[in-house]
Amino acid sequence: MESNIKKIGVFTSGGDAPGMNAAIRAVVRTCIYYKTDVYGIYNGYLGMINGDISEMGARSVSKILERGGTILKSARSKGFMTKEGRQKAYENLKAKKIDALVAIGGNGTFAGAHLFYKEYGIPTLCIPGTIDNDLSGTDYTIGYDTATNTAVEAIDKIRDTALSHNRLFFVEVMGRDSGDIAMNSGIAGGAVAILVPEQKMSTDELIAKLDVGAHNNKTSSLVIVAEGGKSGSAMEIARKVNEKIDYYDTKVTILGHLQRGGVPTCFDRVLASKLGVGAVEGLLKGEKDKMAGIIHRKLVYSSLEKVLDTPRDTEEEALRIAKILSI
Ligand code: F6P
Repeated sequence: MESNIKKIGVFTSGGDAPGMNAAIRAVVRTCIYYKTDVYGIYNGYLGMINGDISEMGARSVSKILERGGTILKSARSKGFMTKEGRQKAYENLKAKKIDALVAIGGNGTFAGAHLFYKEYGIPTLCIPGTIDNDLSGTDYTIGYDTATNTAVEAIDKIRDTALSHNRLFFVEVMGRDSGDIAMNSGIAGGAVAILVPEQKMSTDELIAKLDVGAHNNKTSSLVIVAEGGKSGSAMEIARKVNEKIDYYDTKVTILGHLQRGGVPTCFDRVLASKLGVGAVEGLLKGEKDKMAGIIHRKLVYSSLEKVLDTPRDTEEEALRIAKILSI
């Protein structure tokens, strides 16, 4: 492929997600396939500022496809939010003659990439890597499938103990502004109610649902709460519910960062591989300031501006299904 781009830098930034390594591998190997040098930038934007950059080869990404986390490490850099930080990052990239970037991360990473592109004009393509599945311009983000399966596995285990003790469990899952993990792990785990950031449910509404279950001989129940839920944290909701009902012994489990680790699923590895190839091919064909995503099985490049400005749709249908099935 004919292109002016000779050296591509790749980095991961923001919260890590299972499958990021598969994306790094795909970027590195696609660069090599197209005879383009590829450099790993360690610790995200922080490493760009500190010059933590080294050349990668086909073997530097061997045996990482099946590993969670990110071999390039990740950070949430405050320095890159300053003009001086970005200037330093630019100088380090120029010193290494890096003339294009692939950024793997979520909306914070993309906001940084878009600003950097506007200021310095280095062609950049982003790959959606976050467990939250909170980005428009792609059906799925890398890591979401693995994280949701991890949540379901945990919920199934909690179900066993909830049943044995006739208890009500509030299980808090990740998802700062997006209820996708909660919604789908809630459906798969048979939750009586799912509280997501996109929709408010009052304590009284929740108790009305629990009452119906209790009157229908339900001896245990699970409520899934997304951490960024409008109704509050799992702890807060459990406390309020506990003050008003006496037919359940109530417990809270916060799944937290365990959802970010683990072996990526086949789905996440394949998604990451497609997006890694797509990002490099996009750059070599002249795409820039965009995100590579997959919509209805097709690779799509969306402008970062649009991705950042367009909130992801809530899957109303999933919420409706959960409601029908939770009697
Ligand atoms: O963005 C992914 C995510 O895991 C969110 O679900 C969560 O709110 C956040 O990252 C946690 O970030 P940190 O690891 O920096 O505490």
